[in-house]
Amino acid sequence: MSSSSVRPMSDAQFKKLAKIIYDRSGIHFPETKKYIIESRLTHRLVELEMEDYDQYTAFLTMGPYQSDEFQEMFNRITINETSFFRNEPQLTVFERQVLPELLEARSSTKRLRVWSAACSTGEEPFTLAIIVHRTLGVRLKDWNIEIMGTDISERALNVANKGEYSSYAMRSTPELVKNRYFKENNGLWTIDEQIRSMVTFELHNLKDRLAAKRHGIWDVIFCRNVMIYFDDEMKKRVVGMFADQLAPDGTLFIGHSENIRDVNDHFESLPYTQGFCYRPLKAGVSKAA
Ligand SMILES: C[S@@+](CC[C@H](N)C(=O)[O-])C[C@H]1O[C@@H](n2cnc3c(N)ncnc32)[C@H](O)[C@@H]1O
Repeated sequence: MSSSSVRPMSDAQFKKLAKIIYDRSGIHFPETKKYIIESRLTHRLVELEMEDYDQYTAFLTMGPYQSDEFQEMFNRITINETSFFRNEPQLTVFERQVLPELLEARSSTKRLRVWSAACSTGEEPFTLAIIVHRTLGVRLKDWNIEIMGTDISERALNVANKGEYSSYAMRSTPELVKNRYFKENNGLWTIDEQIRSMVTFELHNLKDRLAAKRHGIWDVIFCRNVMIYFDDEMKKRVVGMFADQLAPDGTLFIGHSENIRDVNDHFESLPYTQGFCYRPLKAGVSKAA
């Protein structure tokens, strides 16, 4: 079977599949993005020897393999664009303002927990590990640092777990960092073992509040460049979940092109122009209009 034997997706089939995807993950595909789903799933239908999308949605929702197929589908339809040191000005706010304050505040417990939610192939949590590593220097051995990267795409997390990257992933990485924290071989960059050991990866769907609860309270949450794929209802849900999972003096970082203005009852923004970062409102205080 070849992709030409798969019948084009009708508008009704698209609507049905888009709703299934939204209900499961919060990812909102408007009709203008129909071509993305179609181009990414046609080959899957060929693999499954299916000729149309009605068969596929039935397989996805009713068959004995449904949860495996959801995983397979999310591996294919998610957009995993990322890089090391993405948006450096924002990371400078993390490194120079937020992190030193938190390290001071946690100096008695010497425990710091950082969650990179929707981390794709791992560049973001590894970048945060490098920043924590170079900030603490020899003091690192006295600290219990936990950095967790999560994503809905198992395929992206497999790349993260390998810790090997192409030059494209390194495009925003300063030379000094490349030399200090990576080994290059034939265009493949391998992350330093010490940095790799600071980060753990887990499959997690941002719709799953219970799983987030199980991971406990975080001092820092990075959730960048995924809320652009969510509608307001899903954003509200995710921001509410972060409010439950962030320490009262913790910080939430979002992507520079995202905003949570209309869905946020829990956070106030911090006064760093390049930071795109928020702190939980104190109990009993409501957000200024
Ligand atoms: C564009 S990447 C952003 C990666 C990284 N945070 C960054 O800013 O460079 C978006 C990621 O969000 C993930 N994603 C989409 N919906 C998700 C959901 N409901 N739960 C968890 N991850 C999700 C995708 O799999 C993808 O890897």
